[in-house]
Amino acid sequence: MATHEGRTALVTGAAAGIGRAYAKRLAEDGANVVVADIADGAETVGLIEAAGSAGLAVECDVSSAEAVAAAAAAAKERFGTVDILVHNAGIYPICEFKDMTFEEWRQVLAVNLDSAFHLCHELLPAMREQAWGRVVIISSNTFHAGIGGMSHYIASKGGLIGFVRSLAAEVGEEGVTVNSVAPSLVRSKGTTEGPHEELGLFEFVAQGQAIKRTEQPEDLVGAISFLTSDDAAFITGQTLCVDGGWVRA
Ligand SMILES: NC(=O)c1ccc[n+]([C@@H]2O[C@H](COP(=O)([O-])OP(=O)(O)OC[C@H]3O[C@@H](n4cnc5c(N)ncnc54)[C@H](O)[C@@H]3O)[C@@H](O)[C@H]2O)c1
Repeated sequence: MATHEGRTALVTGAAAGIGRAYAKRLAEDGANVVVADIADGAETVGLIEAAGSAGLAVECDVSSAEAVAAAAAAAKERFGTVDILVHNAGIYPICEFKDMTFEEWRQVLAVNLDSAFHLCHELLPAMREQAWGRVVIISSNTFHAGIGGMSHYIASKGGLIGFVRSLAAEVGEEGVTVNSVAPSLVRSKGTTEGPHEELGLFEFVAQGQAIKRTEQPEDLVGAISFLTSDDAAFITGQTLCVDGGWVRA
């Protein structure tokens, strides 16, 4: 039997980028997958179905409590429950603090961090009730390195790491684990379209890693598969750096 047979996963930001790779892998593992994104998730649903699982695309801005509630309701209507949350949606504008407006700061915090509040408020009660649940929130190894030009982003990712630690303590006795995965710089839709290449960031980051090549979305999917499986039942409150050994803690 596939490891995730009979489970339903909701993956945010899965219409493109790394989230799409998570959705595809969870589908290959046998899970039904809900693609929650502001962009059209139809292409990802095609990949989920090609893997032999059921998929559902829901339009959802994760920074909106109402939109998250509607997405959770749509997922429950289609699949009955959501057993696994992979909160991957996030934005990472590069901007020095001296040039940053409060609106830009709030936008990053809203999309990256407030969203975790909305998603967990909606989805955790059913996981606790059924005494089985897996929450994985995508943070970033930039939290450990504290590089410049991303103070809003790194504040949001640090907030997620703290959130995971505390929430894990509250639900550990109820069969629900809460963890975080911290990637390095990954070649995704967002980083390919962003200034990362021009700024030489792919090469710079790769050289700082123990494994000196640029991370790909596929490098992350095994960790997501494992942390959302039965096998990871005794791992909670952790942040796993899947980053080619950039952080060596
Ligand atoms: N790419 C990297 O180098 C890298 C490194 C560390 C961490 N991360 C984290 O991984 C996650 C995915 O990054 P990526 O590179 O795949 O990004 P991406 O920009 O390629 O894709 C992000 C996806 O999220 C969606 N999205 C954006 N705002 C949203 C919102 N408000 N509500 C719902 N969906 C929204 C987009 O439509 C898109 O489909 C992010 O949380 C990011 O911070 C990325």
